[in-house]
Amino acid sequence: MAKAIFLLVAALAITAVSAGNGRTLLQQKTVTQTAQATPALSTLVAALTKTGLADVLNDPNLVATVFAPTNDAFVALEKSLGYTQEQLLNSAILKPTLLYHVVPKVAAQSSSLTDNQVLATDLPGQSLTVYLKPSGVVISGVQTAANVTQANIVASKAIVHVVDTVLLPAQYALNGAPAPAPAMMGAMAPSAMG
Ligand SMILES: *[C@@H]1O[C@H](CO)[C@@H](O)[C@H](O)[C@H]1NC(C)=O
Repeated sequence: MAKAIFLLVAALAITAVSAGNGRTLLQQKTVTQTAQATPALSTLVAALTKTGLADVLNDPNLVATVFAPTNDAFVALEKSLGYTQEQLLNSAILKPTLLYHVVPKVAAQSSSLTDNQVLATDLPGQSLTVYLKPSGVVISGVQTAANVTQANIVASKAIVHVVDTVLLPAQYALNGAPAPAPAMMGAMAPSAMG
């Protein structure tokens, strides 16, 4: 019974919280709570929990734009990496990849994004580029591009946009091997290719 009530509360966009003075405040969900309440984001929740980022994104004062890949997006990534979900959740790729989906200090509604806009991410030195296409908003990383499939979910002071593809940072190649540094690519000797 208690669990059923908890699930019901979690399903609401607005949660009542005791203000400690006998009054009740209406408080919006955090990013983590928003993901937890969305069945299509359960792999993301598992990944955030595994990396400790669930706590970071549970801050109600966090101002950020978060691109949230769906379960299908994670399955597609696992396929292209040749990983099981468990392998992905335990891989060194996971945390940098998640950080690459968080744009700090700005909560951007899709209407405030502009074509060719470059977004600095929480992964140091790596950015995403926005493209406004006739089909919708596309967020492009260095290796993959994602369509925004559900925009503008308000999560306390942050904004979540659901995306259909995982954005992979530069240091990981899609075949699962570490990507060569860009400067090395032309200089790579055939023997180094294995
Ligand atoms: C993203 O949208 C484009 C254009 O509609 C489409 O061709 C592409 O397949 C979409 N990506 C995914 C992962 O569904």
